[in-house]
Amino acid sequence: MTDVPKETLLFVDDEESILEVASEYFMAKGYHVRTAENGRLAVDIIEKEKIDCCFTDINMPEMDGLELAEYIRTVDNTIPVIIMTGYPSLDNTIRTLKNGVVDFLIKPVNLNQLEICVKRVLRERQLFIKNIFLTQEVEGKHRIENLNRELTYKVEELNTLNRIMTDFATIDSSFDLFKRVVDLSTELTHADEACFYVINEAIQRPVQVARSVAGGNGGPPNPLDRSTASGDGQCACNKDISQLILDNCDEDKPLLVHENSNVRGLPEAIRSLMLVPLNIRKKVFGVLAVSSLNGDVRFSEKDLYYMSFMTNKAAYAIENVALYENIYENLLATLYAFVGAIEARDPYTEQHSNRVTRIAIALCRALGGSQEEQDILNVAGQLHDIGKIGIRDDILLKPGRLTDEEFSIIKEHPVIGANIVERLGLWDREKNIIRCHHERFDGKGYPDGLAGENIPMLARILSVADVYDAIASDRAYRKRMEEAKILEIMYGGSGTQFDAGVIDTFRSLYDQGVIKAISETSP
Ligand SMILES: [Fe+2]
Repeated sequence: MTDVPKETLLFVDDEESILEVASEYFMAKGYHVRTAENGRLAVDIIEKEKIDCCFTDINMPEMDGLELAEYIRTVDNTIPVIIMTGYPSLDNTIRTLKNGVVDFLIKPVNLNQLEICVKRVLRERQLFIKNIFLTQEVEGKHRIENLNRELTYKVEELNTLNRIMTDFATIDSSFDLFKRVVDLSTELTHADEACFYVINEAIQRPVQVARSVAGGNGGPPNPLDRSTASGDGQCACNKDISQLILDNCDEDKPLLVHENSNVRGLPEAIRSLMLVPLNIRKKVFGVLAVSSLNGDVRFSEKDLYYMSFMTNKAAYAIENVALYENIYENLLATLYAFVGAIEARDPYTEQHSNRVTRIAIALCRALGGSQEEQDILNVAGQLHDIGKIGIRDDILLKPGRLTDEEFSIIKEHPVIGANIVERLGLWDREKNIIRCHHERFDGKGYPDGLAGENIPMLARILSVADVYDAIASDRAYRKRMEEAKILEIMYGGSGTQFDAGVIDTFRSLYDQGVIKAISETSP
């Protein structure tokens, strides 16, 4: 089966015979054929119908072939226009080419030659259209690739910003915060080193408070560090970087410099450097210095943007931490004042909590407890009897023996104390120690009857210190005991009332005179 052409050919000529011959010939070949006697009539047809190819004479009334060619070029430049003329001239030829005419046939035109021409220009037109589609497709593909790249960039940026936000949300001390700033800086920018400096107005130089080196502590030598100092005690780099930081802080804007820039004072060892100020309440508090030393890393505006975003978040976090530390200090001071008030109600217990705390910390240290555990004991020891604030004076201060009912009221104080601390939403570990400070190792204590290892270690320590101070000092209902009697109670309680390990340590400290020394000195 041969392909039947479906294309529409338009013949424009003021010679009717040419139109008739061409029309008959090409319709017989299966083409659709339209004819017009001048350019104006041809335009009417083109406005209404889809034309695939146009053959036109040049010299015609109303609108000539060249004007028609120009019109066609403006409405659809894919339609090929072929000029047929009996009087070719150089001028005409040039004008036809300017108007986008694709071929030029000299009359009289042979029908066979015309058909070859039709087939050729239609094939070229198809290729031309295909090429336009391909170009559009390629452009579309490029556009999609660009959009994808932009999207990936945005997602990466959001991830980074989100990472910075979440990382700073969990920080609760200034030290952790500065460490987090420098660690995150080296990670996000692939820097060799990041340092955070606090600007100290008093000594007119930046003071390094945190440093992070890519790949851990065994990284490259630090050109910013004083440890690389030369004979005069201060290395050139450190001088340079300090001056750079101070100069930059005056302008209060982030600075991005590379080795070949003209910034004065950039140490030789540094290839690329970012200095980002951290402002608190519009004042420069510190500067983050991120440097690339030997590698290929050159920081970009994007890195600078991340670092600025981070120092902004860090500034908020510092303000919050400062606020929190302030609240925490105030709260502790208030609670200690409460304890002071309780102890003042009973002159015999004055400074009891203070002595208990110091004995407990000494025991904890001797048992190998960490600084954190000693800090916990410092708060828990001071507050262990804070629950007594809820007990009536006539019971708390009663001389002589308590009735069972009165004793059961006294026994509520560890729970009341733990509740007071719990309601403040702070000090979870301290709360548990306060609750457990009257538990006994054999499970016969109160309020929960916990035994052995179920009692927190710090509570077992506090219990030894508490009982010792209670029996070693004067009380409302009795004078202080003889030393032998005190030690009999303490050592005799080993493994029953007290943790044997804690008592062993207590005995060792007592023998060294440490316990007595604490008992007998004021804080
Ligand atoms: Fe107590």
